Amino acid sequence: MKPVLIGIIGCGNISDAYFTGAANSEFARVKACADLRPEAAQAKAAQHGVAAMSVDALLADPDIEIVINLTVPHAHVPVSLQILEAGKHVYLEKPLATDFASARAMLARAEASGLRVGCAPDTFFGAAHQACRAALDAGRIGRPIGGAVAVLSRGMESWHPNPEFFFKPGGGPIHDMGPYYVTQLVNLLGPVARVSACATIGFPQRIISSEPLRGQVIEVEVPTTVNGILQFASGANVSMSASWDVWAHQRAPIEIYGTEGTLLGVDPNFFGGSPRVAERDSGFKPLDTQPHAFGVDNFTLRSGARVANYRAVGVLDMAVALRRDRPHRASGELALHVLEVLDAFERSSREGRHIDIETAVQRPVVVPLGRGEQVFVAD
Ligand SMILES: NC(=O)c1ccc[n+]([C@@H]2O[C@H](COP(=O)([O-])OP(=O)(O)OC[C@H]3O[C@@H](n4cnc5c(N)ncnc54)[C@H](O)[C@@H]3O)[C@@H](O)[C@H]2O)c1
Repeated sequence: MKPVLIGIIGCGNISDAYFTGAANSEFARVKACADLRPEAAQAKAAQHGVAAMSVDALLADPDIEIVINLTVPHAHVPVSLQILEAGKHVYLEKPLATDFASARAMLARAEASGLRVGCAPDTFFGAAHQACRAALDAGRIGRPIGGAVAVLSRGMESWHPNPEFFFKPGGGPIHDMGPYYVTQLVNLLGPVARVSACATIGFPQRIISSEPLRGQVIEVEVPTTVNGILQFASGANVSMSASWDVWAHQRAPIEIYGTEGTLLGVDPNFFGGSPRVAERDSGFKPLDTQPHAFGVDNFTLRSGARVANYRAVGVLDMAVALRRDRPHRASGELALHVLEVLDAFERSSREGRHIDIETAVQRPVVVPLGRGEQVFVAD
């Protein structure tokens, strides 16, 4: 397969994962990068051996077929529209947009031009999450009835070099972390039909404790503690708690309760981990993640812990899909559905009522068993 050449716009904190992930593949290669701050693009270009360009020059490069948009959430739609105008496919970091309406208009623009939109998260490609999907599809917990999700921490101002965007529209625990959890829930249970929730701002100001902006104050504009219920089209309902106001807790990231047992998922911010299943009252047993791709630990976190981190498989899947003329899994439609659900949490709280979800998607196609990106060849 002729590798797909990629351009990256937005050379900030997350960009290394894409430079490394895409550059390590036989299916795609990063040719160039750009940023509003030319010095950021030049630094990443030198680090990863690609060309630094202006945004306009990158978009005018006829070799580049997919542009990865790694800008901050409020720039996701305007930059993606520029990419589509240039006749290129776009793959974005999450959330797809800061609001549902502009995201839907962007997807309509892409469809009218025959261009693809893909969007993170792609962690559901990971071995742990695919093993959960396989267990569920094999009927090991019977028909899912309910579930509980928890994504709780004290927030982002202690580690990110420029954390303001986390507390502005498009941020908050629901829009920033929610995409991982809701996407994995859709991967397991299918589309969401309606949402109800309560939301509040725990601390109206945050003081940055990371360098180089230590001491700066952020005015918080989005809810930081949100509790809601997702009702799925299948009939199952799942409670979801998302907060950046929590010092400590003991809740599991994802639990699904079925007629025949319980599935204990793992943190969908990562690809690997040790999910478990209890069939009726037999006690929890590990799920076999070995046959699944994207589960071997390959990355060291700031804490020193080793995790499986294959960010960029979503865009590689899109590159292969482009060549083979098949749908890609981390699709714009999936991300739009997830965004509508995320927006509904805040709307439900504001309006004091259930919010019906208009969009519906199929669950993404399972990732074939095997090792590494070669699994896409089996598709
Ligand atoms: N940092 C993480 O660990 C992480 C993890 C997963 C997802 N994400 C997502 O990735 C995206 C980027 O996050 P980040 O942490 O890398 O942010 P960041 O602030 O570190 O980097 C964003 C970069 O985009 C550039 N930029 C902003 N607007 C632009 C525009 N209009 N044109 C060109 N360049 C522009 C900025 O100059 C900056 O270099 C966000 O949507 C975030 O939610 C981040």
